[in-house]
Amino acid sequence: MARSNGSSTFELDRAAAQPRPLIDPYQRAITYLRVSVTDRCDFRCVYCMSENMTFLPKADVLSLEELDRLCSAFIAKGVSKLRLTGGEPLVRRGIMTLVDSLSRYLASGALKELTLTTNGSQLAKYAAELKSLGIERINVSLDTLDADKFRAITRWGELDKVLAGIDAAQAAGLHVKINAVALKGVNDEDIGDLLAWAHGRGMDLTVIEVMPLGDVGEARLDQYMPLSMVRSRLAERYTLEDIAFSTGGPARYVRVKETGGHLGFITPLTHNFCESCNRVRITCTGTLFMCLGQNDATDLRAPLRASEGNDLVYTAIDEAIMRKPKGHDFVIDRRHRRPALTRHMSVTGG
Ligand SMILES: C[S@@+](CC[C@H](N)C(=O)[O-])C[C@H]1O[C@@H](n2cnc3c(N)ncnc32)[C@H](O)[C@@H]1O
Ligand code: SF4
Repeated sequence: MARSNGSSTFELDRAAAQPRPLIDPYQRAITYLRVSVTDRCDFRCVYCMSENMTFLPKADVLSLEELDRLCSAFIAKGVSKLRLTGGEPLVRRGIMTLVDSLSRYLASGALKELTLTTNGSQLAKYAAELKSLGIERINVSLDTLDADKFRAITRWGELDKVLAGIDAAQAAGLHVKINAVALKGVNDEDIGDLLAWAHGRGMDLTVIEVMPLGDVGEARLDQYMPLSMVRSRLAERYTLEDIAFSTGGPARYVRVKETGGHLGFITPLTHNFCESCNRVRITCTGTLFMCLGQNDATDLRAPLRASEGNDLVYTAIDEAIMRKPKGHDFVIDRRHRRPALTRHMSVTGG
C-alpha cells in the first residue's frame, strides 16, 4: 500500500509559508493536474505522432524523484486529482516507483484520486500492482476492435495485447473507461460495436474528436469527424438519453438505454467547455501548460533544480496560474491546413 519514502525533499515543503491554493483570474480553482511522465511511446497512432518522431533527449526529462517533488508541490497547493499520462506512461522505466511514492497522498487523503491514461499495451504486467497501490480507475485508449484497423491506426500496436491488458485490469478490480478517437472513414463505422462491447463489460466509453496538435504527416481535415455525425449514426442503433452526469471534465454524457452504460463525447472543436476548466498539465521536462489549446507555458524545471526548497516552484506556479487563459483556440479549417499548435499530444498527454 502507500509507502513513505523517507526523503525530506519529496515531502511537502512544510518549512515554507503555507502554499496558497490555485485560483486563476477567472476564479476557477485548479485542482486537477495531468502529468506527462514521458513523451515516448510503443505505438505511433496516426492522429498523435508521425512515424519518425524525434523524442526529447533523456537529459532534459525530469527524474522520477523530480516528478514526485513537482507533483508534491501541486498537491500542497490544493491539487486533489492527479492523472499520469504520456506518451505511454507505462513504458517509462521505473514508473511504478513513482506511482508507489505518489500513493502516500491517497493514504493521507491529500489526493482524492490518482489515475492514469494508457494505451493498455503494458497493462497485463502492471494492472494488479496499480490496484494494490490505490489506483481505482484508469482510462484505456482503444479506437477499434478490428485487429487490422487497430494496427493501421496505431502503426505498431497489437490489439490482442491491449485486450489482454483490459482483461487483467478488470480482473484486478480496476474500473476501466475506454476512450476512442473518431477518425473519418477509419473507425467511424466501428464505434457502435465498440460501444456494445465496452458496455457489455461494464466499461463506459468516451468518444473524442480529433484535435489539431502537432504535425503527424496526415492532413487533419482528412481525419476530422465531427461527433455530431458519430452521435447521429449511433442514434440509428441506440436510444441516447441526455443526462446531467459529469465527471467534472470536458465530456458530455448520454445514457444508452439499451445497455444502461454511459457514453461520453469530448468535442473541443464544436463546443466550448473552458468555463469550468479546473486543470493544468505538466510535461516530462517540467513545462507547465495552463491550457491544452494554447502555447503559453512556464518552465518549472529551473526553479525546481535551483534549490531544495519549493518556494521558487510555488512562485513560478502562482505566476503561471495568473496567466491561465479563459479558453482555447483550436481551429481546423481550409484556411488553416497546418496544426493549430505545433506540439504533439504526446508532449502534454491529452
Ligand atoms: C496522448 S495519449 C497518452 C496516453 C496513452 N498513450 C494513451 O494513448 O492513452 C492520451 C489520449 O490522447 C488521445 N489523442 C492523441 N492525439 C490526439 C489528437 N490529435 N486528438 C484527439 N485525441 C488525441 C489519445 O487517443 C489518448 O486517448
Ligand atoms: S495516443 Fe497514446 S498510444 Fe497513441 S501514439 Fe499517442 S501516446 Fe502513444
